[in-house]
Parts: sequence; structure tokens; C-alpha cells
Amino acid sequence: YTVDWDASAAEKGGWDSFMDKEIHEDPAAVQRTLLGRLDKNGDLNLDEVRIEEHELKAIDKIIVVACGTAAYAGQVAKYAIEHWVRIPVEIELAHEFRYRDPILTPRTLVVAISQSGETMDTLMALRHAREQGSKVLAICNTQGASIPRESDAVLYTHAGPEVAVASTKAFVAQITAAYVLGLYLAQVKGAMFRDEIQATLDALKAMPRKIQWILDTQAATVRKAAEQLTDAKSFLFLGRHVGYPVAMEGALKLKEIAYTFTEGFAAGELKHGPIALVDEGEPVVFIVPPARGRNVLHAKVISGIEEVKARGAAIIAVAEEGDPDVERYADIVFWRPKCPTLMSPLVDVVPLQLFAMDMAKLKGYDVDKPRNLAKSVTVE
Ligand code: G6P
Repeated sequence: YTVDWDASAAEKGGWDSFMDKEIHEDPAAVQRTLLGRLDKNGDLNLDEVRIEEHELKAIDKIIVVACGTAAYAGQVAKYAIEHWVRIPVEIELAHEFRYRDPILTPRTLVVAISQSGETMDTLMALRHAREQGSKVLAICNTQGASIPRESDAVLYTHAGPEVAVASTKAFVAQITAAYVLGLYLAQVKGAMFRDEIQATLDALKAMPRKIQWILDTQAATVRKAAEQLTDAKSFLFLGRHVGYPVAMEGALKLKEIAYTFTEGFAAGELKHGPIALVDEGEPVVFIVPPARGRNVLHAKVISGIEEVKARGAAIIAVAEEGDPDVERYADIVFWRPKCPTLMSPLVDVVPLQLFAMDMAKLKGYDVDKPRNLAKSVTVE
């Protein structure tokens, strides 16, 4: 008599893949990354950021360097940090960065985002930045890795070890950490009122619950969508504002593990080219911004949906609960609970992670170890 004991099943905490387990850790990844960042007075306190306050006050530009999923997290953060801190934030793929003689001064803060902390492209970019006299802050998920060791400061994401090659929980943790950094800079530079910072932090703290809601209520819809679309030859993913990098990340997930030809675009570009690709039955995924308030972008994304719908596309939308325009046009909807636009990437990416995973499983692929890819790329 032998007990059917599978060590790797135990490591996966009962899930049948690490990716499954790690997507379900999205809420915890955000929550843990927020922990311990507030002092007794409720002010942000980033002791671990060992850059002097007077130096932070002097920062007049941020350049985020990263690759893959981490770069999309940086692209999301750009929208928030520019809005909050009112300094320019550039996001650059680490491998492009140092070969174009970027403008770096002691007042430039370079933020290197990396789950593994070992990506060679990102490491070389930060070395270049430091040689040019800029300060480098790492946002990293791995204690003591090369990237945090070689940086002036570190903000750790506390997502826990990520094993599946395709990054999931690290992405939401990276956005969270970059947002905390942005709010901290806003506090140090006096760019926001104290109660504005508090309100934004409160919105951030509410996100783990909202992500959990997605996992609890939308997974079945996502699974059904994957069943319907398993044989689709290609996908388009479109979004605007923060929905744009989310679309890019959703497309990347599908390429990485389901090996489906997928393109992500800024939804506004549709009419400047990609719409030519749209044919009868082409699945197009739209990230639809909240409809509330005077959100002009909502109407623009909806008109994009109408355009491709008229050409026979199958519309899959990620949209705010009860959005009547989306209900009217979309064939499949992954609903998001109400939240501020800048917080929406933390929830919107979750159904897209699940969708890629379900697609890959239905096609019979190993979701944890996709072909040709490595978890951390340590060559340039
Ligand atoms: C590789 C992985 C991606 C990851 C990227 C950056 O390409 O396959 O999932 O997003 O590297 O990795 P990092 O560890 O620097 O975040």
C-alpha cells in the first residue's frame, strides 16, 4: 500500500499548476506589498528607500527600466506617478536604454523593476544609469538579488516566490510598489495634500478585496470564454490610458503560454492601422474604462467597439459592473467591481491572466513551463 503523495502538488498548495496558485495569490501580493509602509501617524514611511529626503525632493524626472511584464507594470505606474507627482516619467525597455545615450542627471531617478532581480538587460541599464550619476531605485521581488544589491535603494514587492515562468502576482505587486513610491514622492515633494494621499492609499488598500471578487465571481465566465475561443488563430487586445499597458500584458500572457498570435494596441490606434486586421469572427479584447463621471475615454473605447463589431468581430470586454454600453455590444464580458481608473489595472489584468492560463490548459500546454522561455533571462 502506498500513499499517493506528490511533493510538487504540495508545493502548489492544492492547485494543479503554479500559475493557478500564483494568480490566486494576486490579492495577497498586493496586500503584503502595502504592509508596513505606514507609520503611526498614517504617513508613508519608506525607511528602506535609503535615498535622502533632500535628494528625493530634487528629483525632476523618473525613468523606469524593465523588461516584459515588469515593463508593463512600469507603464501603468507612469500614468499614476505623473498625475500625482507632476514630474515626467519615462518608461524604457532596459535593452534599448543604454544604447541610445539617454539623458541622465543626478536629479534623474531611475527605477528598475524586476521580479527576479537577475534580468541582465535591466542590470546593465541600471549600471549605466549609476555611471552617469543618477540614483537607482529597484522594485524587486527577490531579496538580495543582483538588481537590488547594485541599486541605491530598494522597494521590495512581497508577492512571495513566483515559480511559473509567466509572471502574474509579481505584476500586481509591482504596480502596488510603484504606486507607493509615487505617493511617497508626492508626500516628500508636497505635490499632494495629505488627505489626498490618504484617500488614494485607502483606494489601494481596498484592491485586494476587489481582486478576490474577480477570482470568486468571474473565473467561470473566463473559463467558458476560453472554451469558446480555444481554436482562435489570433487575438487583438486594445485599451486606452492605463488600459493600454493592461491590454499589452494580457496579450503577452496569451503569447507566452497559449502560443496564440496576439497583438496588443492602444485602442486609439485602431483607426490608424490595426482595424485592417479585423475580419468576421476575429476575437478582440477591449479594456473599457469606468463609465462614471465625465470619463471621455469611455465613450471613445465604446465607439472603437462599435467599429470592430460592425466588421463582425467577436467582442470580449473587461468592463465595470453593469456598464450598459458594454452589455449592448460585447459577446463576452469579464466584469470589474467599481474602482478608480488608476486602480483598475490591478483588477483588470486578473481575468486576462486566467484567460491565458485556461487557453493554454485547453490546448494541452504546460502552463508553468512554456516552450522557449526562461523565468529569468540572465544574458543580454
Ligand atoms: C522573462 C520572463 C518574463 C518577465 C521578464 C522580466 O522574459 O519570462 O515573465 O516578465 O523576463 O523578468 P524580471 O525578473 O526582470 O521581472
